[in-house]
Amino acid sequence: MNESSAATDSLNQQTSTDSAPAGQGNPATRRTIVSFVRRTSKLPPKLSKAWEQYAPAYLLTLPHAQGDLSVSPEFRFDSDYVEEEWGNTNPLIIEIGTGQGENIAAAALTNPHLNYLALEVYDPGVAHTLLRAGKHEITNLRIAQVNAAELFETAFADGIAAEVWTYFPDPWPKMKHHKRRIIQPALASAVRRTLVQGGVWRIATDIDDYALHVHEILDSFEGFRNEGTKEVSLATQHVGKGTADEAAQMPHALFRESERFEGRVLTSFERKGLDKGHTVHDFTYRAV
Ligand SMILES: C[S@@+](CC[C@H](N)C(=O)[O-])C[C@H]1O[C@@H](n2cnc3c(N)ncnc32)[C@H](O)[C@@H]1O
Repeated sequence: MNESSAATDSLNQQTSTDSAPAGQGNPATRRTIVSFVRRTSKLPPKLSKAWEQYAPAYLLTLPHAQGDLSVSPEFRFDSDYVEEEWGNTNPLIIEIGTGQGENIAAAALTNPHLNYLALEVYDPGVAHTLLRAGKHEITNLRIAQVNAAELFETAFADGIAAEVWTYFPDPWPKMKHHKRRIIQPALASAVRRTLVQGGVWRIATDIDDYALHVHEILDSFEGFRNEGTKEVSLATQHVGKGTADEAAQMPHALFRESERFEGRVLTSFERKGLDKGHTVHDFTYRAV
């Protein structure tokens, strides 16, 4: 998501509209910092149709709090809920910010013995994921249109997830916006609590400065072990919106990162980063 696409006030959210795309609800104000800019684009007919056709089967109806992207603090996402929604208690993999759903849909198709949960706020992303799920008749995937950070903070039962994935989180490059990056110590605590012992948090980014941000937060985070074996040299100071040349002048240090996770497919978002010459950083943090 582009931080400058200010079609809407970034902190506005809407009240519940049942299974209609969330962007078509009524505004309500939310004061906490969020990692996304709310945009209310109207869906093209193909995606509108997909929403209508597939939302009943795939879109979870969560009890909301203040706006339609928040979740009631009373709501518990535990093994009973998984059994109700998926019809079994197979291991659960949660992806934060699924975009168009390329990764999670491919994984769900390949691994029918696992359950998958896609978390995404943006209407077109949710609609594309619904379309993929419906078209391929995927049975082990559910989608929640919700601020993922809230679900982790209050809803997930301890140890409910075997894996959590965060691929190409919105970069928020300006220094003053780093607090909007979704990976923060509070989310790390919540992800750790949500993961089963031995489970993993897989992360990928094509932004060097975000890679440094991940290392700073997670390399010494109690309860996680960086499983990376590949040494990568990174500037040890944040560059904000600075250029690659400026970053190259800064002091560097070696960090450990992972090889690309074999189950991570190339998304259109990653393709754009590669076309710009970006290096992709992969991380595996194990819950210990
Ligand atoms: C840069 S895109 C990457 C999408 C996808 N993971 C990929 O690799 O193509 C980041 C996505 O995260 C979503 N996002 C940002 N903050 C979120 C939040 N708090 N909860 C759920 N989704 C969020 C955005 O709407 C956007 O679709």
